[in-house]
Amino acid sequence: MGVDTLRWTGKTLQLLDQRALPQKIEYVICRTATDTAHAIRGMVVRGAPAIGCAAAFGIALEATRPVALDAAFETLAHSRPTAVNLAWALARMRRALTLGGATTLENEALAIFREDLAINRAIGAHGAELVADGARIMTHCNAGALATAGHGTALGVVRSARDQGKSISVVASETRPYLQGARLTAWEMVQERIPVTLVTDSMAGYLMSCGEIDLLIVGADRIAANGDVANKIGTYTLAVLAQRHGLPFYVAAPRSTFDPAIAQGASIPIEERPADEVTGYRGSRWAPEGVAVRNPAFDVTPAELVTGLITEVGVLRAPSRAGVAALLFRTSGSP
Ligand code: MRU
Repeated sequence: MGVDTLRWTGKTLQLLDQRALPQKIEYVICRTATDTAHAIRGMVVRGAPAIGCAAAFGIALEATRPVALDAAFETLAHSRPTAVNLAWALARMRRALTLGGATTLENEALAIFREDLAINRAIGAHGAELVADGARIMTHCNAGALATAGHGTALGVVRSARDQGKSISVVASETRPYLQGARLTAWEMVQERIPVTLVTDSMAGYLMSCGEIDLLIVGADRIAANGDVANKIGTYTLAVLAQRHGLPFYVAAPRSTFDPAIAQGASIPIEERPADEVTGYRGSRWAPEGVAVRNPAFDVTPAELVTGLITEVGVLRAPSRAGVAALLFRTSGSP
């Protein structure tokens, strides 16, 4: 992509300000865990794996102030509720602190970051096998390099398929209300010179009915023990449409996005975001004052609508509780 989503300098965490994209490339500098939590809550950095990496570095920023560490864990844990990678990364940092002390925190955060990049390349390699030459891939939100340490999950599959020499193209849904598809996925694909067509969310069914989509690949924020998937609002709608039109619907995610403690999708906490994201955009308002608004940022796609979960250890087809348990247990290979 030519631009880093997260940069660690040893003393600061520099986050590409995703609120400003695609108009401006700017970095927000975090010097404390509180700065980092503020950046996560404010959407400077977003996307489940990137949020996890940022939180880990946020803890590392407090390594020289051990008395502040408990408060740092607490503040970061409450920065956003749905992506489980946040809690997963904090648990890893807590374990490193307990076993090795505060001096190990920087190395653990760097390990989480580097592993995420390697994991995404493995996801890409497994997923690319599912993509035929010439495929037209619909994706939703942004599950790309901007949402991870690099390469991406859903867009990692796209990149890997392209790297295999396949002539693929992407249809990006705009992703109302926060426009991650229009602003971020479209930008990533343009940077990579991967053919991309932007559509509004409501055009998806029409395109599928016209035979203009071959498969769908999205990311995930949390996957329950039974394979239900929480991802960006609108994902469930796309999965239902995909089933209606007989199209494969894949979810690409690392195993750090699975939450075996959550039995089914209905128990996943769904973030409700501010009303002004729905009533207007960046200061301009189009809805009348006094209107009631709902703004759930994620929805849950039942496992039965998911053709396969693409992970770093392989593709779990027709996800089930037993399949997910086996997948989380594996050390390598195909589930
Ligand atoms: O609200 P966001 O932008 O953090 O939501 C991001 C998504 O829903 C992504 O699809 C998901 O985190 C996977 S990112 C690899």
